Amino acid sequence: MAKFENMDFMSTAFTTGAFVASGDNVMVASWGFVGVMWGKKVFVAPIRDSRYTKEMIDKTGEFTVSVPAEGDMKAAVSFCGSKSGRDYDKWKETGLVRKKAQVVSAPLVEGCARYFECRVIGVLPMGDMDISAVKQWYPTADMHNFYFGEIVAEY
Ligand SMILES: Cc1cc2nc3c(=O)[nH]c(=O)nc-3n(C[C@H](O)[C@H](O)[C@H](O)COP(=O)(O)O)c2cc1C
Repeated sequence: MAKFENMDFMSTAFTTGAFVASGDNVMVASWGFVGVMWGKKVFVAPIRDSRYTKEMIDKTGEFTVSVPAEGDMKAAVSFCGSKSGRDYDKWKETGLVRKKAQVVSAPLVEGCARYFECRVIGVLPMGDMDISAVKQWYPTADMHNFYFGEIVAEY
């Protein structure tokens, strides 16, 4: 049965943001969905075309989500949410520490309140979806891709 351990800190994930790590890179996302599809627990992470994280997820098929406690790690959230892993080693720049995941190879961020380890089971680009209601979010056509990650561990 697709039963979640708990849903604590989800409001922090979708307001302040959560660290999304893949390969050896980490970014921040504050949009997304957690739910159940195909009898599996699923984290849907919307990742724009331009993100280095997209390259890493496409290459490894994995990502992790580390949710800080409310109001915590603000400087690291700001750095990882504005600088690209193409230009910076964000672990080194922020002092964030990698924490070993239980199932996937991608790292978690040490010291967070809530963790999800995900294996990609599908990706949906926005394609020709009608964006007339939300087009202000896409001034440069840097579209989102919805990565459906099966949650293989959460704690
Ligand atoms: C609070 C916050 C939320 C964000 N949410 C998302 C998101 O949901 N999807 C996304 O693609 N980028 C999001 N970003 C932007 C990326 O984190 C940012 O562009 C980052 O520098 C990408 O890093 P990368 O190129 O190393 O992948 C968010 C940034 C912040 C600060």
